[in-house]
Amino acid sequence: MTQETAQLIVDGKTYTLPVVESTTGERAIDIRSLRQQSGYITLDSGYMNTGSCQSTITYLDGDQGILRYRGYDIADLAANCVFIEVAYLLLTGELPTAKELDRFKYDMTRYALIHEDMIHFFDHFPPNSSPMSILSTMVGTLHDFYPEMDQEEDPYGGITTTTARLLSKVRTIAAFSYKKNIGHPLVYPRPDLSYCANFLNMMFDRPNMPYRVEPIAVIALNKLLILHADHEQNCSTSTVRLVGSAGVGLYPCISAGVNALWGPSHGGANVAVMRMLETIRRDGRDYDKYIAKAKDPNDPYRLTGFGHRVYKTYDPRAKLIKEICTAVLDTLQVDDPLLEIAQELEYRVSQDDYFVSRNLYPNVDFYSGIIYRALGIPTNMFTVMFALGRLPGWIAHWQEMNSDKDSSRIGRPRQVYRGLVNRPFVRLEDR
Ligand code: SDX
Repeated sequence: MTQETAQLIVDGKTYTLPVVESTTGERAIDIRSLRQQSGYITLDSGYMNTGSCQSTITYLDGDQGILRYRGYDIADLAANCVFIEVAYLLLTGELPTAKELDRFKYDMTRYALIHEDMIHFFDHFPPNSSPMSILSTMVGTLHDFYPEMDQEEDPYGGITTTTARLLSKVRTIAAFSYKKNIGHPLVYPRPDLSYCANFLNMMFDRPNMPYRVEPIAVIALNKLLILHADHEQNCSTSTVRLVGSAGVGLYPCISAGVNALWGPSHGGANVAVMRMLETIRRDGRDYDKYIAKAKDPNDPYRLTGFGHRVYKTYDPRAKLIKEICTAVLDTLQVDDPLLEIAQELEYRVSQDDYFVSRNLYPNVDFYSGIIYRALGIPTNMFTVMFALGRLPGWIAHWQEMNSDKDSSRIGRPRQVYRGLVNRPFVRLEDR
């Protein structure tokens, strides 16, 4: 098959650049030789048009609203799998057999505890510390408590001990940070509970009021974590890959990913959505006031939970999360006015040309918080839930980045310099 090429004509010269085709038909101009051939670099603030790597993990089509993990559609995975099956798929490329899943479940139980000395850390964070800053700190500290985890490589089907431990311990860290925050005794993981049921139990069980793990809550949490599990080269995943390209171990990279996800333009949006809906509720449901603010070019206010860098149609995850939302609230008989406000806001936005012309639809963060709230999870933990879901995706990309020479080259973008050129030095006494 002849190699397709692109030609760049600049300064009267023609440069030929290879074209790379994806397995789904998208094409890219490979500019890795551009500077060497022409002395030119490209400029693409925000990497709107730039591919940072070649990956086999997740595919999304922003125009069609398609999202697939390792070739499987997320609707199929959300309907038929539990979260740790999908985590296994992202990490190894294959869904686990029954035997492999049993081993993975066993390891989730085996590695669920954190070093008792780590628990003292929770006592020294200032009151009302952000659960995201606690999570990124504690994940980074795993490197010091489990130094052997960077070396231990006893993969079974591609899952290393390091990975299994991290997936299980981050769940415990998240639940323990909540219990410490509300001043309740820690609830330790139980060997008889599944990944999601254990998390809910560690969050909500109390010595004086035993928690009953609602089946719908476990079903909903599995689906939510599956729908958040990966999303190709988003900001936090690109952060994990970039930090990893410097040769940094898994834990510091994941800690960096947690910090990137924290941002209100990224995973922090699920917290901001609830605050926005609450504000609209308290303001007499004055939808038009907030829609007008979002449309005002002189006002930085945006309708959080709407819009996406890649999806220019309805985020397929938002569609599924909206369905889960209704099922959870109906089954748990939760009457949350914010659901009605969210649905009305979505309807009004869908009728407004400003949003329609810019392809601004609900994204993954728009309805997820309403479910977390119905499950009893506090708003300040919502982005931690996003991180819990995204963890296998981050790890899979870290592994993939390290897996070949090309993608593991240190990430070091260039720039267009716009500063002063060459200034003669002026001594202090002469200034
Ligand atoms: C996530 O990348 C991923 O995959 C991320 C994620 C994942 O799974 O990892 O999907 C998770 O981060 C979802 C996004 C969560 N963030 C929000 O909900 C915050 C609100 N959304 C916006 O900030 C914005 O839509 C972004 C950040 C999500 C995308 O920004 P872009 O791609 O840079 O788009 P843009 O800012 O260039 O917007 C294009 C136009 C602009 O208007 P004009 O300059 O053309 O007049 O749309 C407007 C924007 O002002 N616009 C909005 C808007 N989002 C974009 N106007 C009002 N409200 C909004 N929410």
